[in-house]
Amino acid sequence: MMMKFEYAQGATPLDPDEVDGLIPFHITTQGQLNEWEAANILEAESWLFSTANPGNFLTIEFTRLLHKKMLSKTWEWAGTFRKTSRNIGVDPNKITMDLKNLLDDLIYQIININNGFTIDEIAYRFHHRLVSIHPFPNGNGRHARLMTDYLLARAGSPKFTWGKESLIGEGPTRTKYIEALRQADKHDYSKLAAFVRS
Ligand SMILES: Nc1ncnc2c1ncn2[C@@H]1O[C@H](COP(=O)(O)OP(=O)(O)OP(=O)(O)O)[C@@H](O)[C@H]1O
Ligand SMILES: [Mg+2]
Repeated sequence: MMMKFEYAQGATPLDPDEVDGLIPFHITTQGQLNEWEAANILEAESWLFSTANPGNFLTIEFTRLLHKKMLSKTWEWAGTFRKTSRNIGVDPNKITMDLKNLLDDLIYQIININNGFTIDEIAYRFHHRLVSIHPFPNGNGRHARLMTDYLLARAGSPKFTWGKESLIGEGPTRTKYIEALRQADKHDYSKLAAFVRS
């Protein structure tokens, strides 16, 4: 049976190759796929927040492992980087280097937290840069939000609220979120700063 996917504003359509990687063969609608993915991601979240210390999480390996855990029951390519270009994101052959630079900067900012950015500033800037790199074929928004919340948790800070409503599918909250990211693309973080704790 053919599967027809619908994409919300600011979402990246999949390549035909990537659509081939769908694991649950009984899924035929976007609604079923959303539910299946959500269940998969919930398991990853329980794993993440119940593991006392999964080692150094500010690494490329951990970044990929978390994506793999989030979507390993859904997509064959979970945890692997994008191989093609998208409307959002860096050239595929720059992903590893840009991610390494991002993680290095993040470590530097955390070490210098007392004379630099606050933890919230570090976290939403990290989130924006991670989704801008757009390492994975799909799931970048959800993965980057979870990475960001985990960073906050590890720093002993409350997680972001991300507008409190679901960001999956169209709606006023998603619109605000995407607008805030576009503003951040222009180096103005005010909307994103407000949104993540709204
Ligand atoms: N202009 C933009 N600048 C930076 N990041 C953006 C921009 N527009 C969208 N994004 C990010 O890209 C994400 C969509 O990418 P992708 O479809 O890979 O993620 P997803 O997890 O499937 O989406 P969702 O956020 O709907 O769960 C958005 O959630 C947002 O985080
Ligand atoms: Mg998507």
